[in-house]
This record gives sequence, C-alpha cells and structure tokens, in this order.
Amino acid sequence: MTSNLPPLILAIDTSCDETSAAVTWGRNVLSSVIASQTQLHQAYGGVYPTLAKQEHQKKIKPVVQTALKRAQVKLKELTAIAVTQGPGLAPALEIGLAFGKKTAKQTKLPLIAVNHLEGHALSVLAKPRPNPTNESNLAPWQKNQLKQEIAWPVLAIIVSGGHTQFVLLKKIGHYQILGQTIDDALGEALDKVGRMINLGYPAGPVLEKIAKNGQVNRFKFPLPMTTQPNFNLSYSGLKTAANNLLTQLKKQQPLTQQDIYDFAASFQQAAFKHLTYKLDKLLTANQQLKSNKKIQQVWLGGGVAANIKLRAQIRQVLKPHNLKLKTPYKKQLCSDNAAMIGLVANFCYQEQKFANKKSLERQPSMSFGRS
Ligand code: KG4
Ligand code: ZN
Repeated sequence: MTSNLPPLILAIDTSCDETSAAVTWGRNVLSSVIASQTQLHQAYGGVYPTLAKQEHQKKIKPVVQTALKRAQVKLKELTAIAVTQGPGLAPALEIGLAFGKKTAKQTKLPLIAVNHLEGHALSVLAKPRPNPTNESNLAPWQKNQLKQEIAWPVLAIIVSGGHTQFVLLKKIGHYQILGQTIDDALGEALDKVGRMINLGYPAGPVLEKIAKNGQVNRFKFPLPMTTQPNFNLSYSGLKTAANNLLTQLKKQQPLTQQDIYDFAASFQQAAFKHLTYKLDKLLTANQQLKSNKKIQQVWLGGGVAANIKLRAQIRQVLKPHNLKLKTPYKKQLCSDNAAMIGLVANFCYQEQKFANKKSLERQPSMSFGRS
C-alpha cells in the first residue's frame, strides 16, 4: 500500500459489553462486527464485569477474523491496529488492549490508542463501504474534503450509557467539554428507570418502543438544574422522582398496561427535555460570542443517539438557531462499535500519533480528549 492512500485499519473495542472489531479505510467502514453480551447480563440488570471479561476473551479472536473476512482484507495488507484505551470497564478494556498489542507486535504494524468518547463524538464522519463505481464516495480522507464537509466549531452531544456531554470540537484533536452530567448518564437513567418497570437490560430501546403507546403529559416530572448558569446535567433527581411516582401509583391500584406506557412516555420526554433545555441555553449563550466561536454544526453520538424521539426533540431546538443535526449514517454506529475507533485512528494515523506497544495501558476513567 502506498503512502498517499488512506490507512487500512483493524480496530477493536471491548470497552463494555460488546466485543467489536472493524476494518476501516480512511473514513470508510469496510466491515463492522459486534458480538453483544446483553443477553448474558440480563439476569444481573446491568453489566457484570467478570462475565464481560470472560466473554470478550472467548469472542475477540472470532470477531476479529469475521471483520477481516467481511472486509476481504488480510492481516498483512493492513496499515495499523487501533484499540480503545478507555474509558470503560477495566477488565473488559484489558482484553481488547492485550489483543491489539499482541497483533501489532506480530504484524509489526503501528498501534493506535483511541479514546472511546472521541469515537462517539466523531462517529458522524464515518462513511459506508465505497461503491467502486462511484468515485466521489471513495475514501474522502484528504483534508480539503473534510474542509468542505465540516464547518468548525462543532458541538458534539454524546449520549451513552456511561456519559452525557456537550463537547466543543474546535477541529480534529482539539476539544473542550462545555457541560456534562454530574451524576447518572442519560442512557443509565433510562436503563435504571426502565428496570423499575421490568423492561430488562438495556431498557433504553424498549422504553423508546413502549413510549410510542403512551401519553407524554400524563405524569409530571421536574426539570432539573434550571437555576444553574452552567450547561451541566443531572439525572439522579429525575430517577428518584420516577421511583416515588411509581411507589405512589402502586399504592393506589395495580398498574395497568396503559399506566406503564404513559409512565414510559412521560419519563422519556422529561429526560430528553432536560437535555434539550440545556442545549438551548448553551446555543443561546454561544450566539453572543464572536463569529469564529459560533457553533456551526451539531453532531449526535452514543447509544441513546439511536432514539428517534430524541433526534426530533433536538432538531426542534436547533431550528431557531439555524443549525442542523448530523447523526451517524447507520444506527449500529451509535452504540458501542469498533468502526468509530477505526475512524478516529484514521486521523491519529495522519498525525503519526502511535502508541508504545510495550507500555500502553488501559485507562478506565479516561476523560474526553487526546492523551
Ligand atoms: O454508547 P453505548 O452503546 O454504550 C456506552 O458507551 O455506554 O450506550 C448504551 C446506552 C444504554 O443505556 C442503552 O439503553 C441506550 O444506550 N440506548 C438507547 C437506545 N438504544 C440504546 N436509549 C434510548 N433509545 C434507544 N433507541
Ligand atoms: Zn460507548
């Protein structure tokens, strides 16, 4: 492979309960394989770390092999190996990291360490596998093509099971957190409240489904942190309010199916309203800044980004600010996946930002940014 072609990267992510591998070529996703462990963790109502580690150990090799096979790429054709360094569950991260280090050593390829949150934030930049008959679709990784596509600064909204953040992307690699949850993440709150009504794990997608049958205004929830002048969020109060409401309702009479639907719809609405309220505040404040600091685009990433209602509510807030929302080209890129890790690694490769194969260690509490 000559140096003026985009890097062909094998990427691995084992940050939580998905064993994932992908092959990316520049920003193009050639293959993306995800072995989900959710069934396994159902009984525990959340991720059981020891079990997650065992399952990653079992799945990592076949998942990587399938990713290579689907991409029709051989190990020796690759340019680099990329792996998630953090944040995530320590025992889970360890498996992907060890596999990535070993593969990089065996193949003598450079190793790239990626921040999982940067993956979620940049996931909207991923492109599908190029169509060989469509030249314009081919690996648009050159800087000028990126320039046409992105107007900086960008506001990235990350909504996952572990994180809820507003991040200002000044350009690739230059980031500033503008606000974030001070307790539970949005996905975590949906999962915990969903568990209260026996929706299983993860409850977010089920809550979305059943909320369609319910009335959003049937039950009232508080709007948290409205008096605080910052753009931080908090979901623990909403979670407690949900618990109290359920206890009260159950005291009156057994819950009907419609009560459950209305509860799901009302809670989901309140949880999203909290985010969009803060988003509106942030954008209003941003409009007062000098023109080169004004947010030009808004990107959404992370598991909850798959939620259609959330996307619609965010779009409503963006409209008066003349902003459009960008979401990943397919839903699989919202939840944990290695394709987004390959995508970030593509940019790291351009900067020749490589990790030390011997000393690289997992960072379970890694914050947003580049190490
Ligand atoms: O990004 P992700 O896969 O993992 C983390 O990095 O945390 O996010 C998982 C979270 C879970 O809380 C799950 O319930 C939520 O994303 N989620 C959803 C939907 N799909 C996944 N929440 C609401 N609606 C969905 N459609
Ligand atoms: Zn994630």
